[in-house]
Amino acid sequence: MSDRLAGKRVLVTGAAQGMGRSIAVMAAAQGAESVTVADLKPEAAEETAELVRSAGANAAVVLADLTDSGDIRRMIDESVAFAGGLDTLIHNAGIIDSVLMDSANFDSLEERVWDTVFNVNVKAVWIASQHAAPHLRESTRGPSIVNSASVSGINGTQNAVAYGASKAALIQLTKSMAVALSPQVRVNAFLPGAIATPMAMEFLDSVEDREYTMNHMTGAHLVPRFGEADEVAEVACFLASDAASFVTGGIYAVDGGTLAWRGLRG
Ligand SMILES: NC(=O)c1ccc[n+]([C@@H]2O[C@H](COP(=O)([O-])OP(=O)(O)OC[C@H]3O[C@@H](n4cnc5c(N)ncnc54)[C@H](O)[C@@H]3O)[C@@H](O)[C@H]2O)c1
Repeated sequence: MSDRLAGKRVLVTGAAQGMGRSIAVMAAAQGAESVTVADLKPEAAEETAELVRSAGANAAVVLADLTDSGDIRRMIDESVAFAGGLDTLIHNAGIIDSVLMDSANFDSLEERVWDTVFNVNVKAVWIASQHAAPHLRESTRGPSIVNSASVSGINGTQNAVAYGASKAALIQLTKSMAVALSPQVRVNAFLPGAIATPMAMEFLDSVEDREYTMNHMTGAHLVPRFGEADEVAEVACFLASDAASFVTGGIYAVDGGTLAWRGLRG
């Protein structure tokens, strides 16, 4: 394993499970000095923190609800106090319409679901980044922000109307933050395709025709399967590392080739 994150003080949101957990543990394995594991779920977050420690970094859990701006600012403050600064802010937490309501389609989508999805996927990223900016600008350890967007922020997705719109907004926010925080802080985003995490599996469980939807989710992958969380974590850690020192304002697909074509074989 490389040491390309050597010395970095990292904060990962949504790190209790899925890709967030993979990113937190991989950051530690790649030499991060510390990882703050932020999430809503205390037990799973503590499990991630233990895995981070086993991989060689200091770890602290910060419980924060990203729909609450006070919690978001406290999350940054507690992470900085624990680690003595902040070099890498990874906005991984995200939420999809189907987690918040049954039968989440365009006709049934509720306003409260739209608002929660946008609050977690977009507004929280802005508030956390704004509050973290002074610490990141002060960092002498290659500071950067890495955002988890989605291929759904580029292409339309069935039954995820608010989610797709929020990820498109996050792509734009990434570019605007790259401009605003230059030259001190790099800001990039990656776009996962369908990745085998609890979010994807719960989404599959929420639809009527599981088989059809699974084929729909992975059918456009030129690498013909679900992606693994670690395959995405590799890219997140690269973007956070000094190996990506000339990379900012970029949007990187980690999607098995989904965005390369129209998904139909002749
Ligand atoms: N799984 C996929 O196929 C896929 C595809 C494209 C993009 N993504 C994106 O990747 C990221 C990670 O996805 P995942 O599949 O690992 O998700 P997941 O649902 O398995 O994990 C998300 C984590 O975020 C946390 N979270 C949710 N709402 C929160 C809130 N209000 N406050 C604090 N924490 C909160 C959850 O507790 C959970 O631990 C998300 O941004 C998601 O949108 C996932």
